[in-house]
Amino acid sequence: MTLLERLEIKHPILLAPMAGVSTPKLAAEVSNQGGLGSLGLGANTVEDARQQILATQALTHRPFQVNFFCHQSLPLDPQVSAQWIQYLTPYFEKYHATVPTELKCIYPSFLDHDDYLKLVLETRPKAVSFHFGIPHSHQIQALKAADIITLASATNLAEALAIEAAGIDIIIAQGIEAGGHRGIFNNHFDSAVKTSDLIQLFKQHCHLPIIAAGGIMNGQHAQALINLGAEAVQLGTAFVQCKSSNANAAYRKALFNKPITQVSASISGRPARGLINHWHTQVDRPERPEVATYPYCYDLGKQLNNAAIAHGDDGFGAFWAGSNVAHIREMEAADLINQLVLEMSQT
Ligand SMILES: Cc1cc2nc3c(=O)[nH]c(=O)nc-3n(C[C@H](O)[C@H](O)[C@H](O)COP(=O)(O)O)c2cc1C
Repeated sequence: MTLLERLEIKHPILLAPMAGVSTPKLAAEVSNQGGLGSLGLGANTVEDARQQILATQALTHRPFQVNFFCHQSLPLDPQVSAQWIQYLTPYFEKYHATVPTELKCIYPSFLDHDDYLKLVLETRPKAVSFHFGIPHSHQIQALKAADIITLASATNLAEALAIEAAGIDIIIAQGIEAGGHRGIFNNHFDSAVKTSDLIQLFKQHCHLPIIAAGGIMNGQHAQALINLGAEAVQLGTAFVQCKSSNANAAYRKALFNKPITQVSASISGRPARGLINHWHTQVDRPERPEVATYPYCYDLGKQLNNAAIAHGDDGFGAFWAGSNVAHIREMEAADLINQLVLEMSQT
């Protein structure tokens, strides 16, 4: 059975799960057009995640994927955290905001408990994907027993081999070009391999189907990666300008006006690629101390962003975008799928 038959989709195009940007409407539009829609639920409570899945199921009878974070929940190092708060204090003061004294773990991991797993087993989306790591063995077995297809991001060969050994069904090859968080399992190690190189590497050493992700903005590029051995492509940034995404006005404007990206760990505590803003130009100075642990660091980053916004400054937003963002198009999601399919056929 081909990957498209397994996923029950017409086109080899997946909407990347995007926490904070995905919406049920965007997911349903992509699925209804023959791609695989998705919901990024890693930042949602179990109840919010349930509402999003149910809302998507009300908008489409076609398959879609849901996505969760599988980071190792590390305890907060009090010294590192205190240093990080101190380092960012002048920015809070600039915006006359109260400096937080302690940071919260704003996103639990799929690994921490089985509540997200139970939700998936109850609501039965076609597929579930994981970022930052691999679920526990009992979780993978339960998903398999329920006939739910599993996917996980890999940014290097070691991660791909671990995904295969764990019994996951599909590898997402996330290249260094990708917008958003690097899917790296080890927060301190990123081999920064390009999407095209990852496909060839995984093709040579792994047996699982590969989905290419990172920097894909048009059908020509998508087809080139499929010709290299990927069975489908997953696009995130390309869909952020769609009307049904949850991106706010400042983010949309910056995508057009400042389409240059860089990877920074300062916003959340994990490296992520986004549009260059105050995080990269002001915070990421050579004397920057070690960032606080993910996702505690993100708690502070979000508070600083809110403080800046209250003073009319949107330069601390988490405006995730891939390195080819300059090619972004403002289209309805269904039209974008049609356009990508057309470009792929003409390649
Ligand atoms: C706004 C945004 C949010 C993202 N959030 C998630 C997420 O919640 N889970 C995930 O697995 N990947 C997430 N990613 C990464 C995507 O899955 C994918 O690797 C990336 O979008 C591919 O690169 P591209 O943006 O250049 O298409 C996000 C990407 C973007 C742009």
